[in-house]
Amino acid sequence: MTVLRSVVLGCGHALPAHRMTNAEIATRVDTSDEWIVERTGINARHIAAKDETTSVLATRAARAAIENAGIEASSIDLVILATATPDFTFPATATQVQAALGITQGAAFDLQAVCSGFVYAMTTADKFLISGSHKRALVIGAETFSRILDWEDRTTCVLFGDGAGAVVLEAQPGAGEIADRGILSTHLRADGRHLDKLYVDGGPSTTATTGHLRMEGKEVFRYAVTFLAEVIEAAFKATGLTAADIDWFVPHQANRRIIDATARKLGIDPAHVVLTVGDHGNTSAASIPLALSTACADGRIKKGQLVLIEAMGGGFTWGSALIRW
Ligand code: UT7
Repeated sequence: MTVLRSVVLGCGHALPAHRMTNAEIATRVDTSDEWIVERTGINARHIAAKDETTSVLATRAARAAIENAGIEASSIDLVILATATPDFTFPATATQVQAALGITQGAAFDLQAVCSGFVYAMTTADKFLISGSHKRALVIGAETFSRILDWEDRTTCVLFGDGAGAVVLEAQPGAGEIADRGILSTHLRADGRHLDKLYVDGGPSTTATTGHLRMEGKEVFRYAVTFLAEVIEAAFKATGLTAADIDWFVPHQANRRIIDATARKLGIDPAHVVLTVGDHGNTSAASIPLALSTACADGRIKKGQLVLIEAMGGGFTWGSALIRW
């Protein structure tokens, strides 16, 4: 029987020009390179200039992904942009990207699941593509979190950065075997009772301001490893695959200690973990596509390999996906 699967055609990323080191942050708040590296694994993050908006970074990443895929932008009929830091309250930043790329057909919308945004967006695009309603999707994670940070709060401002990553997916017919390319399995979760642990204290309908990020880091950390392990085990159960089958584990890059603990709990070999948190910090919805694109560009991720992505963030929301690259 022939089935449709969402196959990755290419990926790309974009980072703001300014690389802010831990030493530079230490001139602004009472912190140190030693503390940040030991507690998070972060050495530096990129911070967007005024004109490097979310749509600008997203468009740069999208262009790189389209070029890497070797397709015409005009053939894309679905643009999904995962972001918690849109250019405007409305319209969707995805429509700005669509216009910048010269795409005049199909659908374009933003998706808000904070740090899980890219896993949610890949899952959503997959549902569209395997239904046969759309043929080529551009899935982007893009953020300018530096705009919503409280730069006087050392417990949060040292953790985050800006950037964008994008992936082009195409619906392709096949036998639907586990060895065939494409998205094999997706698993999404949410539990809105955890609002107070990670949120932004402003918004159009409450304060009519943008607000600042607030986080109880220790609490988020505590839940993250348990929730992530559960949603990865769900992916293994659905496919019959195991940790030993994973070629590349590409987790949301929030904290190296969370990534190490999750990999250890699941028995994933550290040599198969893609780590970019050291150079990018936590870029929320952009972190996974940034890591995917980095590992594709340097030759680590190759066609036919098994890639596991996962994320957990505000809401809480969390999820995983297994992709045969
Ligand atoms: O992407 C969304 C999901 N978010 C996350 O996954 C983040 C999850 N949480 C974390 O990554 C960690 O909890 C943090 C990195 C945020 C914090 O690490 P921690 O080991 O949980 O540290 P802590 O909050 O327990 O703080 C330890 C100490 C405190 O001092 P006292 O109370 O022990 O005297 C803090 O005040 O470190 C202090 N501290 C800092 N010191 C220097 C907190 N932030 C800083 C800082 N520099 N930037």
